[in-house]
Amino acid sequence: MTGNDKAGLAYFLDMAGDYLCGGFRRPHEEYAFQDDIDQTIFPGNAVPRAEAPNKVPGDSLDSGTDSLKTIAAEVASCTRCGLCKTRTNTVPGEGIPAPLVMVIGEGPGADEDTTGRPFVGRAGQLLDRMLDSKGKIGLSRDTNCYIANIIKCRPPGNRSPQTDEISACVPFLVRQIKIIKPKIILALGNTAVKTLLDSSEGITRLRGIFTLFRGTLLMRTPGLQTQEEMDDEFNIPLLPTFHPSALLRDESLKVPVWEDLKILRTKLCELDGEYAAGVALL
Ligand code: URA
Repeated sequence: MTGNDKAGLAYFLDMAGDYLCGGFRRPHEEYAFQDDIDQTIFPGNAVPRAEAPNKVPGDSLDSGTDSLKTIAAEVASCTRCGLCKTRTNTVPGEGIPAPLVMVIGEGPGADEDTTGRPFVGRAGQLLDRMLDSKGKIGLSRDTNCYIANIIKCRPPGNRSPQTDEISACVPFLVRQIKIIKPKIILALGNTAVKTLLDSSEGITRLRGIFTLFRGTLLMRTPGLQTQEEMDDEFNIPLLPTFHPSALLRDESLKVPVWEDLKILRTKLCELDGEYAAGVALL
């Protein structure tokens, strides 16, 4: 309940009391109520900032016995790699359950480490603008996306994640993908693309081309699933594009990213009539 809701209720009760006690308005204390904070929305993480979206990690969604809430709790207490020693908060991901698009970046930076939320710094703000593009792409973590990273803890000094850190963390992401079942994955930058496609090709060659995400990265975790089992679960179209941090360093990348976003839009229009009906004209 918000502070305003509580104040409204208190006002109503005071009025009723005044009515019962003779009908005249009596002096009352000023109302000062705080909003309730739903701790289940940001499991194991920092208290949300005021502008945090209210449809976040999708606690109710589960896959068999697994759920986003369980994963977030495991991530919060994870010590599988050395990053647990330097992190402030873990950053499991946020957005709506069963989204059209799951956006996957590299790993948390300083702002994400402070808040426990993905993509909230400068690159994140640019990402939000890219995803919406004034309604022409029409994507947002509030309405139709889920945003996560390859690794859930910040590497010190914002260095790239190391192979052992990625291997330790990626099973969390695979479990999230299984639960979320996005219609499309948008992979941002080299680390996300190489990891998700298990490819040595760089982002410059792969960007703008849809490839199927088939869970191949699980093959590096022997014994988890066979390729046949994965074929049943993972056949998700994945579109690689440049990471927004790269755009902040090199403005010329905005042109290819806009081309990629239009490719994404076309695919989404094919897959989802409601999206097609709601998106702004190009
Ligand atoms: N860069 C990323 O890859 N992920 C974030 O969450 C923030 C910046």
